[in-house]
Amino acid sequence: MKKIIYPLQLEYISSFETQENALIKKIERFARENKVPILSKDSSKFLEQLIISLRPQKVLEIGTAIAYSAIKISRNLSASGKLYTIEKSNDSIRIANKFINEAKLKNKINLLEGNAQKIIPKLKVKFDFIFLDADKEDYKKLFELSLTLLKKGGVIFIDNLLWHGFAASKKVPKKYISSTKHIRSFNKIFMKTTSLNTSILPIGDGIGLGIKIK
Ligand SMILES: C[S@@+](CC[C@H](N)C(=O)[O-])C[C@H]1O[C@@H](n2cnc3c(N)ncnc32)[C@H](O)[C@@H]1O
Repeated sequence: MKKIIYPLQLEYISSFETQENALIKKIERFARENKVPILSKDSSKFLEQLIISLRPQKVLEIGTAIAYSAIKISRNLSASGKLYTIEKSNDSIRIANKFINEAKLKNKINLLEGNAQKIIPKLKVKFDFIFLDADKEDYKKLFELSLTLLKKGGVIFIDNLLWHGFAASKKVPKKYISSTKHIRSFNKIFMKTTSLNTSILPIGDGIGLGIKIK
């Protein structure tokens, strides 16, 4: 075999998928039916594992959408852990609040409403873990801003760095040309950031993982 991962191997891994609770399934169904982009199952599993093992006290998420990943993060935080999550779309904020209430996680989550580019510079908190999952054209700016709030030893987790496979592909459909350019240019910056130890992991849509070393 030339490769390790073929569709057969992916199917085999999926066969071990554990059952999720009713609310998570409901949010996944809502996302599917309403075409809301949420973290893939394997990326969200990896994210949860990092939260469980690192036990961050303060987590920042940029891009709440309907609170799928916010719920997955905050349900794994320690009693004193807190998630700050930023969302600019009023429709998403309304639905996110509804699901956060249903999950009974209101006390763990601080949902900040508005554009993260304006909110982050006003935050007076330092974070142990940052999850960036916003519009791709905003990645560069949001990355720069959020790095100033990441503690030394802290982790930054960034979704979509393989961008549906197009980041590495010669053929890019017209509607993805601009976003692919943003992701490619972001990846160069991310991988050359000397204050971080970085990698791009082939999980889900490509996870950028950076650990602040200075
Ligand atoms: C991919 S979705 C987030 C999915 C979510 N993290 C999950 O996995 O459940 C991206 C969200 O980021 C929001 N967003 C994009 N750019 C933003 C910005 N600059 N400030 C605040 N929210 C932003 C969008 O409105 C959208 O709801």
